[in-house]
Amino acid sequence: MHDILEQLESKRAAARMGGGQKRIDAQHRKGKLTARERLELLLDEGTFEEWDMFVEHRSVDFGMADNKIPGDGVVTGYGMINGRLVFVFSQDFTVFGGALSEAHAEKICKVMDQAMKVGAPVIGLNDSGGARIQEGVASLGGYADVFQRNVMASGVVPQISMIMGPCAGGAVYSPAMTDFIFMVKDSSYMFVTGPEVVKTVTHEEVTAEELGGGITHTTRSGVADLAFDNDVEALLMLRRLYNYLPLNNREKAPVRPSNDPADRMDLSLDTLVPDNANKPYDMKELIAKTVDDGDFFEIQPEYAKNIVVGFGRMEGQTVGIVANQPLVLAGCLDIKSSIKAARFVRFCDAFNIPVVTFVDVPGFMPGTSQEYGGIIKHGAKLLYAYAECTVPVYCHGCDNKWHRIQYQ
Ligand code: HXC
Repeated sequence: MHDILEQLESKRAAARMGGGQKRIDAQHRKGKLTARERLELLLDEGTFEEWDMFVEHRSVDFGMADNKIPGDGVVTGYGMINGRLVFVFSQDFTVFGGALSEAHAEKICKVMDQAMKVGAPVIGLNDSGGARIQEGVASLGGYADVFQRNVMASGVVPQISMIMGPCAGGAVYSPAMTDFIFMVKDSSYMFVTGPEVVKTVTHEEVTAEELGGGITHTTRSGVADLAFDNDVEALLMLRRLYNYLPLNNREKAPVRPSNDPADRMDLSLDTLVPDNANKPYDMKELIAKTVDDGDFFEIQPEYAKNIVVGFGRMEGQTVGIVANQPLVLAGCLDIKSSIKAARFVRFCDAFNIPVVTFVDVPGFMPGTSQEYGGIIKHGAKLLYAYAECTVPVYCHGCDNKWHRIQYQ
C-alpha cells in the first residue's frame, strides 16, 4: 500500500513539473509564468481542484510512444474567484509547446461540458502552438470538439480567453468564439499563420509583434479586448472583470453594495455637455460620474474609440454602458464602432445585464470607404442588437431626457 502511495505521489510530482525544470526556466526567462502558477494567481487560494492530472496522449508516430508527459500539456479543473465557481483550463507551453492533442482536447471538453451542466463560466489560459503536428487529423478533430462546445456554451455561460503565449492556428479560433479576449504585451501573439509562413506566401516581412501582438489586436484588428504588461496584471484584471458577470444566463450578476448613493447629485454634469453642439467633451468623464464609485471597467478602450463600452454598477448592480465619444470622429458611428458595440450589447442581453446608453451621435459616417466596407450591414448589427434586447435598455439622449426602450 505504501509503495502505491509513493508511486502516486511521484507521478503527481512528475505531472506538476510539466516539461521539466529546463523548460520551466525558459518560460520564466521569457517573463511568463507556468500554467500552474497562472492558476494559482487567478483562483482564490487553495480552491483549485484538478482533474485528469495523469491523462496522456495516445499517439505512437514520430517517436511519441516513448514521449509522454502526465497531463498532456493542459491543466484543467475548477476553482473559485472571489468565492464564485469557475471552470478553467491552462495550457502548458513546456509540454510540446502547449500543442493540442486528441487527449488534451478531451480534457478541455470535459471542463466545458461540466461548466454548461452546472452553469458556471469557463476561463481558458491559452499558451499553445495549435494543433499537435505529430497527431495530424486526430488533433484537428479535437479542435472541432472544442469549437462545438464554444458554440453550445455561447450565451449560456460566459467564456473568457486569456492569451498568454504564442497562439497559432486552432489555438486562436477557439478564443475568437469566446466572449472576451485578454492578451499580455510582448509575450503573447495570435495569428492564423506565423511570420515565416506569411513571408513565404505573400512575401511580406513582418515581426510576430506586428502581425499578432497585444498592441496589434487591441488597436488595429479589434480581435482582443485588452492587453496588459505582464501575466500578473492580466490575471488580476481578469478577476476584476469576473466580478461584474453572472455565472450563467439564468442568473443575475452579483450585487456589490456601495456607499455611493443612487440619488447622489453631481452638479458638474450640468455643465459637462457644452451648449454648443460642435464643442467636444469627454464622455468617459460623464460615465465615471454616473456609475457607482466612479468604477468603470472599459472593454476595447484602444479600438474604435468613437464608441465607449464597458461595465459599471448602479445601486450595486452591474450595467453595461454604451456611449458615443464626441472626442473621436465627433462620435460618428462607423464600421468598427458598430461591430464593437453590437457585440457588447448582445453579450449584455444574453447575460441579463441592463444596457445604459448615452447618445450623442451625429449619425453614421459618410463616405466611400465606409460604404465599400459594408457600413450598411455592419451598422445594422448594432440596430439588430438593440432591437433584439430583452434586458432593460435605457438611453439618455440629445434631448437631455431618459428613455426606457423595450422592443420585446
Ligand atoms: C507539436 C509543437 C507545436 C505543435 C510548438 N511545438 N508547436 N509541437 N505541435 N503545433 C513544440 C516545438 O517543436 C518545441 O519543441 C516546443 O514546442 C517549443 O516551441 P518553439 O518553436 O521552440 O517555441 P517558440 O520559438 O516560442 O515558437 C512558438 C511557436 C512555434 C510560434 C508556437 O513553435 C510554431 O510556429 N509552432 C507551430 C505552429 C503551427 O503551425 N501550429 C499548427 C497550426 S495548424 P522542442 O522539443 O523542439 O523544444 C492548426 C489547425 C487548426 O492549429 C485548424 C482549425 C480549423
